[in-house]
Amino acid sequence: MASNLKVIIYLSFFALIPSGICSYFVNFDASNDTLNDPSKIGQLNLEAARGDKVSSNQPDLYIKLGKDDNGTAALHCHRIKGDIRSEYHALAGKTEKDTTYYIGYQFSLAEIEQSLMIWQFKEFEANSHGGANIPLSMEIVNGKLEFQYQSSGNSHRESQWSTEVTADTVYSAGIVINTSTPGWVQFYWNGDLQKFSSTGGHNLTATTFPGRADPKFGAYRGEAVGIDTYIYKIQIGTEQSDIASAADLKK
Ligand SMILES: *[C@@H]1O[C@H](CO)[C@@H](O)[C@H](O)[C@H]1NC(C)=O
Ligand SMILES: *[C@@H]1O[C@H](CO)[C@@H](O)[C@H](O)[C@H]1NC(C)=O
Ligand SMILES: *[C@@H]1O[C@H](CO)[C@@H](O)[C@H](O)[C@H]1NC(C)=O
Repeated sequence: MASNLKVIIYLSFFALIPSGICSYFVNFDASNDTLNDPSKIGQLNLEAARGDKVSSNQPDLYIKLGKDDNGTAALHCHRIKGDIRSEYHALAGKTEKDTTYYIGYQFSLAEIEQSLMIWQFKEFEANSHGGANIPLSMEIVNGKLEFQYQSSGNSHRESQWSTEVTADTVYSAGIVINTSTPGWVQFYWNGDLQKFSSTGGHNLTATTFPGRADPKFGAYRGEAVGIDTYIYKIQIGTEQSDIASAADLKK
């Protein structure tokens, strides 16, 4: 009798866990008290002038839980003019080849500044010997937000998609990255799967993982002005359903 009861309690316990919850690498939601610990996103990367790394939040260079200008809970990435980096480095040293990563990212920008990079899939091992430094990125160029691909160390970051963006507006991105050689990429914007300009299709065959590349979120470059970006949600997993919320995927 007692052991039957144990089995029932055991089974009901698992019935309460939504399926898929275990596959999250990151599940950050600024508005949810149980999911809003920024340290669970990864490593805090702050840099004042280039090369001047700062180990913890300062009054004029930080990423901390706060509110956007409308009072909505958000992770606030703040830099004064001249400061170059306020980013969270997720999955640092933990990304692997032959994997498909689903990344959801909901954010708003206070400034639309030339060269401001708000997301990167940054290479850490092969960039010194032929691999692209930043295989995939989202960067402001001429007032538009570009999704970019850099195929090798000898090539530039090339726009694969772009859109007009305005300050003070919440956007949702979904990035799917297969890290095989070659791998492939897919991109969702405000919940809709996008087409890439270079292929005309939804799938970009790409060298996404020259050695080891990891995702970074926040604000890098665009240092000619002070920058504030706001992160509402970040989800990283291995299934499309893992990013349904942060990428605002349509049902
Ligand atoms: C992509 O990732 C999956 C794992 O999700 C892997 O099985 C597959 O071989 C990878 N490569 C391609 C080209 O799809
Ligand atoms: C703040 O509120 C205004 C007015 O409703 C809206 O237009 C704007 O998009 C909001 N900004 C953000 C970042 O949610
Ligand atoms: C994208 O293209 C590659 C190479 O043709 C293929 O292996 C992969 O399965 C495609 N991915 C999707 C999601 O269609």
